[in-house]
Amino acid sequence: MSEVTKLSNGVQRASTFPLDASQPISEKDAQSVKRETQLSDARAQSTTMEVVPTQVGYDRWAEIYDSEDNPLVLLEGKHIAPLAGDVAGLTVADIGCGTGRHALRLAAAGARVTAVDFSTAMLERACSKPGAEAIAFVRHDLAKPFPLRSAAFDRVFCCLVLDHIGELNNFFLELRRLCQPKGRVIISVMHPAMSLQGVQARFIDPASGRRISPASHAHQMSDYLMAAVRAGLSLEHVSEHAADAALTAQSPRAVKYLGWPMLLLLKLAPSYV
Ligand SMILES: C[S@@+](CC[C@H](N)C(=O)[O-])C[C@H]1O[C@@H](n2cnc3c(N)ncnc32)[C@H](O)[C@@H]1O
Repeated sequence: MSEVTKLSNGVQRASTFPLDASQPISEKDAQSVKRETQLSDARAQSTTMEVVPTQVGYDRWAEIYDSEDNPLVLLEGKHIAPLAGDVAGLTVADIGCGTGRHALRLAAAGARVTAVDFSTAMLERACSKPGAEAIAFVRHDLAKPFPLRSAAFDRVFCCLVLDHIGELNNFFLELRRLCQPKGRVIISVMHPAMSLQGVQARFIDPASGRRISPASHAHQMSDYLMAAVRAGLSLEHVSEHAADAALTAQSPRAVKYLGWPMLLLLKLAPSYV
């Protein structure tokens, strides 16, 4: 039950517990109301979203990116490996590599990996990890042409990045350009249905307690598929993955998305028609 109570500072607030507004309130009740409103102010502050430029956002996210509860990362980790197959001896580009989650795994599996990102802090995290010395890291803004040779890669990974890319057509053209004729482009992205829940990439900044969102774009499924088609990439695999009981058991943040599509996976091949 919610009622409006006048506080000593004259401000009217909704309290979250029953009070009879016609009766004078005791000091104890007033203190409870104050405590409750302070708590809800704190909650409101932590839930107010601050949208920042993507690079700034990831520079701030880097400190906790690997350790926070991230159901999308967990879900993707369960489903993506079979798409790449055996990568031993293959050349792999990891586009938007972040803290090196995929780049390090792929290098450990015997791939020769080049990994690109524009966030210095995410790249520093990646570079500090065991095995990073085997990877060629490149700092670059992927909104510009990629500084990598054409047809140089057997696998082109782009994982959980596309929702930060405004202009998809050129981006997909670049993914295809990197890919060898018999290579594959492997993509994971937050499912567009998540935007119907008002969800975009975000984290709670440990420094300020504020909810921060690196700028992103609410692309639709058709935007991704048509960008692939226009770039001359054909669809070899598409799958949509919802939060299930196994995921919610691992990730408290996944509970509110149970049964809802969270992840989209694509495997694309250069087409020659
Ligand atoms: C959600 S993280 C994913 C990192 C990694 N691929 C993974 O799956 O763990 C998104 C990454 O994309 C990078 N990114 C986003 N837009 C970019 C751009 N225009 N140029 C370079 N990197 C970008 C961010 O810096 C961030 O590291």
